[in-house]
Amino acid sequence: MQNFDNDYYNSSIYADILKNTNFIVPKLHMPYSKDFSLLSKEKKISGKIAANRICYQPMEGQDADENGDPSELTFQRYKTLSYGGAGIIWIEAVSILPEARSNKHQLMINEHNLDKYKRLAEISKETCFKNNGYEPIIILQLNHSGRYSKPDGKPHPIIAMENKYFYNPEFSYTLATDDYLNSLPQIFADKAILCESAGFDGIDIKCCHGYLYSELLSAYDRKGKYGGSFENRTRLLIDTFDICRNSIKRDTILSCRLNIYDGYNTPYSFGNDKNNLEKYDLSEPKLLIEKLYSHGLDLLNVTMGSPYVNPDVSRPYRPGIDKPKTNAINALYRLFSGAADIHHAFPKIPLVNTGVSGLCGKCAYAAAGMIEEDMTDFVGFGRMNFAYPNIARDILSNNYNEKKCCVACSGCSTLKKNGLLSGCIIRNEKYKEIYKEFAKK
Ligand SMILES: Cc1cc2nc3c(=O)[nH]c(=O)nc-3n(C[C@H](O)[C@H](O)[C@H](O)COP(=O)(O)O)c2cc1C
Repeated sequence: MQNFDNDYYNSSIYADILKNTNFIVPKLHMPYSKDFSLLSKEKKISGKIAANRICYQPMEGQDADENGDPSELTFQRYKTLSYGGAGIIWIEAVSILPEARSNKHQLMINEHNLDKYKRLAEISKETCFKNNGYEPIIILQLNHSGRYSKPDGKPHPIIAMENKYFYNPEFSYTLATDDYLNSLPQIFADKAILCESAGFDGIDIKCCHGYLYSELLSAYDRKGKYGGSFENRTRLLIDTFDICRNSIKRDTILSCRLNIYDGYNTPYSFGNDKNNLEKYDLSEPKLLIEKLYSHGLDLLNVTMGSPYVNPDVSRPYRPGIDKPKTNAINALYRLFSGAADIHHAFPKIPLVNTGVSGLCGKCAYAAAGMIEEDMTDFVGFGRMNFAYPNIARDILSNNYNEKKCCVACSGCSTLKKNGLLSGCIIRNEKYKEIYKEFAKK
């Protein structure tokens, strides 16, 4: 254990973060270990073996074509990532329906482009095997963007519930009817079958960051079978799990990326302590995880917040392009300790945590410390995989280089928000140029 405010952390990016915020930072204990071999241990997920404890989190690159087919750039990106040697590669959000796309360059799988998804799985497996001696476990994330749907580049929200706090009079919206929601589990299952036949090891039902399934979890005021009680708010996710589990093989991994804490400053927020919104209350998330497990969950990836509402909760970043509203260190601590709490409550469910890129050059030490202190099974690297795609390989071969790390500027997110190709604007010349052009306008 190390204190965050010791010399080690203060010598780095944290000095910057602390200088630019007005928050009083308590002495938060964070994990720390120089023993990187801890990250090289194998771990079983369902019937499959992950070669190490590093997971590359899903990161939308917005480089699919208008039909949702992966482009040459998408293939190249996943080739680069899989060379990087993570035990799990979590393919970014892939839309289940045209109206549910987060942007007009989001991936979308269907019968017509199945061969291209086969190629994506093959390239990822072959590249990793050839260069690292093992295949990664590849999970593909399926999503309905709900309130954040922008299929033609402009917002066309499909919302779970009227919510005056998130209401934007500029855009009309569609309230998802019960009939519409009733149709979604079968669509997820059809896509899951396609993913399985394309060669992916697992399917993730995305239920985080305020997208449709995530929004339903706090639809306390929605009328009918999908709103109000805990059972109703979780019904769609559970129904989707049931039908997917029954449609795919038992050894195909079924997973969920789940918000265990929304942290919205509104009455509609899942996993919050209702008396103190800064704090989480994991009682409902734990009930839900228990339920998911009994309905066939094999792997859990936990996260918090929303990039649209409170990005400083979901991906703590340093002051720069955008100003964070809250202290990055507190937010990081909340992400890691929330995940650890879930891990301790459900030791049998393989778990991926979130947020480590916020630790920038110190992330590898914290990651090893998280395994040493049994805070998670897998450490999830998000923005870091854009900045430093070889990070897993380098950590595992003792060639880790702090100078190649993500600096938590969240420039990748600025590109995403503006509908551009997204990648690292600091470490990758291509995206640096895209950002420069964008910034000129
Ligand atoms: C540009 C960008 C794209 C993202 N795409 C996805 C996605 O497709 N699916 C998802 O669940 N999360 C997505 N995220 C969230 C990340 O997976 C991750 O949760 C977040 O960046 C915090 O982790 P980090 O600190 O390691 O970056 C995205 C984040 C960014 C910045």
